[in-house]
Amino acid sequence: MPRKISLINYKGGVGKTSLIVNTAACLAEKGNRVLLFDLDTQSNASIWLMRLERWNVLQSSGRGDIFSIFDPAEDTIKDCIIKDVVQDKSGKSILPGLDIVPTTFNLVDVENEYKAQRPPYAVFQEQLEEIEDNYDYILFDCPPNVLRAAQCGIFCSNEVYIPSNPDALSLIGFTLLVDKMLKFHQRSASFRKPGMGKPAQVQGIIFNAIKTGVDIDVPKMRMQFRLNQFKKQKRVGASAKIFSSIVRDAIVVRRAVTLGLPINLVGQVREEEDSVYKDYTDVAQELINHKPS
Ligand SMILES: Nc1ncnc2c1ncn2[C@@H]1O[C@H](COP(=O)(O)OP(=O)(O)OP(=O)(O)O)[C@@H](O)[C@H]1O
Ligand SMILES: [Mg+2]
Repeated sequence: MPRKISLINYKGGVGKTSLIVNTAACLAEKGNRVLLFDLDTQSNASIWLMRLERWNVLQSSGRGDIFSIFDPAEDTIKDCIIKDVVQDKSGKSILPGLDIVPTTFNLVDVENEYKAQRPPYAVFQEQLEEIEDNYDYILFDCPPNVLRAAQCGIFCSNEVYIPSNPDALSLIGFTLLVDKMLKFHQRSASFRKPGMGKPAQVQGIIFNAIKTGVDIDVPKMRMQFRLNQFKKQKRVGASAKIFSSIVRDAIVVRRAVTLGLPINLVGQVREEEDSVYKDYTDVAQELINHKPS
């Protein structure tokens, strides 16, 4: 049984996609079989890892992306997996173990135009069940909301982590997310199957894009205070914590996207002794060690 993990925050731009792509790559580098779902119609993770040219082909085909799994005449999740997605410029796979189910801009239609008897998350869960045992980690990159695409990740996850910046808006985003997620769990309860385990709770907060010299003690303390409140109310996991690993702000995180590579394959960063690459490997290791009961 893989660990199924969503990264989500109601606040946009906090680093959900950067964190999940780079952490997924670090997990794969450690020998894990990792499947990343891009559940955000912006398609940032897909365009990053497939590079624009390859993703454009997918976008214009109208097949092989997450949206197409909701039409039974088209694809299932199994058909949409791109194995060992990261390639060098010659098309050779260079990161074995990191697979993706990509999205295209079509996914936005699941919010309005998808009409079916069963909710999308139930269809998604059934298809995921067919392939999940092939993986150690299944990761869901969610948009900053709890609409239908994000619901697929939340419904199927066992754990939720919140990327956060050290500011008041991230704290508000976290608070809102917990509330919306609990309401969604209530609404979707009748669709849960016995083998799925309990609905996912927030198990951790990961601070991202911390500028050198900036003291994050106060925002961290405020976040810890809110986390403790929620723990008492049993609204988050009993062992939920703020990760001691943080990801610093570094220009190379943006450059990695332009290069179409996760950070662990950007040569220059990898060779530096103390770089943001180390931050992501630390986050990946802390995630491996943090196994909520
Ligand atoms: N540690 C970091 N250092 C520098 N830049 C970063 C860092 N993390 C993220 N960024 C940059 O910040 C921007 C937003 O990051 P990202 O796309 O990962 O956020 P997001 O939460 O997924 O956004 P959205 O809500 O739109 O999905 C991107 O340009 C990304 O390259
Ligand atoms: Mg994103």
